[in-house]
Amino acid sequence: MVRADFVIKLGGSAITNKDSPLSPNMEVMEQIARELAKFDLKEKKIVLVYGGGSFGHFIAKRYLSKGAVLSPKGCAEIRAAMLSLAKIITDTFLKYDLPIFVINPSSCFLLKDGEIEPNSSFLIPIERSLQTGLLPAVGGDVVLDSVNGARILSGDRIARLIARRLEVKALIFGTDVDGILTDKGLLRRIKKGEIKRTLAVLGGRPGDVTGGIAGKLREIDSYLSEGGRLAIVFNITRPGLLTKILSGDEVIGTYIG
Ligand code: IPE
Repeated sequence: MVRADFVIKLGGSAITNKDSPLSPNMEVMEQIARELAKFDLKEKKIVLVYGGGSFGHFIAKRYLSKGAVLSPKGCAEIRAAMLSLAKIITDTFLKYDLPIFVINPSSCFLLKDGEIEPNSSFLIPIERSLQTGLLPAVGGDVVLDSVNGARILSGDRIARLIARRLEVKALIFGTDVDGILTDKGLLRRIKKGEIKRTLAVLGGRPGDVTGGIAGKLREIDSYLSEGGRLAIVFNITRPGLLTKILSGDEVIGTYIG
């Protein structure tokens, strides 16, 4: 069985400029690449998952109806936007000699009424790439559904599934905010049993078709219920925090579990 140390979700709000269509945040992408390049990926096994931000969400918003994308043109355009983002991430990471290897869920995941088919063998290429010393990177995507057209599979859901199956030490969500924020400020720690209560007081970000921070917390809730150990939500746009987390140090953020 293949194990990994960390699954890191690169939030679309961090790696793209969410208010400007099809616009990557190069400064943040470069900073993440610089921080990851400090580590020996043969020793620290990492799977990256990236969100759609102003690429995937921007296009998906136009075509999504009741959770499904029924228009073939819509599916193709969302795919194209995520391919563009994948290319930008790939080129940026390669500049720092990171052996990034993008795996597209649309090619290896299948859905049935919004849920991943249990026998879907999406994990195999991810496991193989880890064994080969690559840095697998899987994006949120438009994925075909055997019941109805296609659906948007969020990076958060994908990150949860991979983290669970590879039994990681921590499932890490890098966002553009310091963690889970409520009216009372930043929550530094949420125990497993407190997630439902926290969810009741959270709002969402407009334009996010996959549920924003509440959606993230729901995925974390499922992750922990399924036996996951720890989830961390932190601000990946702040230089140095990712390095600290990967080195085992605690940072400002929300630790859940
Ligand atoms: C969405 O992925 C992917 C598409 C819209 C195709 P996420 O839901 O994980 O994206 P972010 O991190 O919220 O931007």
